[in-house]
Amino acid sequence: MAPEQPYLTWGVLSTANIGRKVVVPAIVASSNGVLGAVASRDAGQARDFADAFGADVRAYGRYEDLLDDPTIDAVYVPLPNALHEDWTVAALEAGKHVLCEKPLAPTAAACRRMGEAAEAAERLLMEAFMYRFHPRTRAVAKLVRDGAIGRPRQVHAAFAFALRRPDDVRWSRALAGGALLDVGSYAVDAARRLLGEEPVEASAFATYAEPGVDGELVGQLRFASGALATVACALTLPRLERVQVVGDAGRIDVDRAFVGGREALAYDLTGADGVTARHVVDGVDQYRLMVEAFADRVLGRALDAPVSDAAEAARTVAVLEALAASAVRGGAPVAIAR
Ligand SMILES: NC(=O)c1ccc[n+]([C@@H]2O[C@H](COP(=O)([O-])OP(=O)(O)OC[C@H]3O[C@@H](n4cnc5c(N)ncnc54)[C@H](OP(=O)(O)O)[C@@H]3O)[C@@H](O)[C@H]2O)c1
Repeated sequence: MAPEQPYLTWGVLSTANIGRKVVVPAIVASSNGVLGAVASRDAGQARDFADAFGADVRAYGRYEDLLDDPTIDAVYVPLPNALHEDWTVAALEAGKHVLCEKPLAPTAAACRRMGEAAEAAERLLMEAFMYRFHPRTRAVAKLVRDGAIGRPRQVHAAFAFALRRPDDVRWSRALAGGALLDVGSYAVDAARRLLGEEPVEASAFATYAEPGVDGELVGQLRFASGALATVACALTLPRLERVQVVGDAGRIDVDRAFVGGREALAYDLTGADGVTARHVVDGVDQYRLMVEAFADRVLGRALDAPVSDAAEAARTVAVLEALAASAVRGGAPVAIAR
């Protein structure tokens, strides 16, 4: 049912798992959006997906047909990483606003091209880094900015999980798979944002599932101020999502830092005296907060939400590229291009 206030009509490019399980349900539950259509390479799959979300959701057997639908205001792009750029640019050129999955693209140059296409089309392009919208993520970032741990000097961030499907797109070099792009992107993003500056140099070691597809990677980042970070990621290990930010007057530890779930989540703040206090943040659907923030931006509503644009994505992806280049060279330090 359409909301009473102004709202956005969404289209979804593909029947991807992440769309089916969390983002499309969040769109359907949102206060300022409705699901208008889904497209798949397979018309039957598109119909099944559409039917699962409502009798009036249209189904298309080609992505192009959804982009031609004039009733669609905004497109959600949960395609494999290597396809983000082409379909995002096509959607922008068709006059749609775009929420594209993370990482926005496998290279910073591609992120910048996508940002230019959004500017030329005068449409919103946002990267779907949902964890940025969680109130706990925002509370921790604000504590660090406000000096609760003194000057932040180190971040240690890790995201690992065991990917058991051998045919998953994350194992494909051609589709820009690998642990670093898939989950290392969260660790790098968290390090940059918590330290509040951009790293200048990276080094990393990786274990490869096949050439060009890292199954495990551990990297280090050096920042101009002298701050340092370690980032770790894997598609082969039990689930671990952890961020620790260490300042010269304390530290904050965050477990289940990225995907989290909808229940209440905590962080631990340790002061200069070594005493740790646990703080609990109410449970939310961070995907719903993300799609509502996107729609509010399109609808021109004033809002206080994290920036998640192509320029911001390019800064994280430039670091991912340097880490990947270092790992290929056996850990040699690589300067980060800006
Ligand atoms: N923010 C998050 O929490 C989160 C979580 C998981 C994944 N993601 C991101 O979401 C994106 C999709 O991940 P996913 O795990 O949901 O992927 P997935 O289930 O494998 O879905 C990808 C979809 O892309 C379409 N597709 C088009 N060309 C394809 C090709 N050559 N090979 C395979 N699929 C192709 C397919 O849909 P049709 O057959 O219907 O056309 C497929 O269902 C990735 O960028 C990933 O990083 C984000």
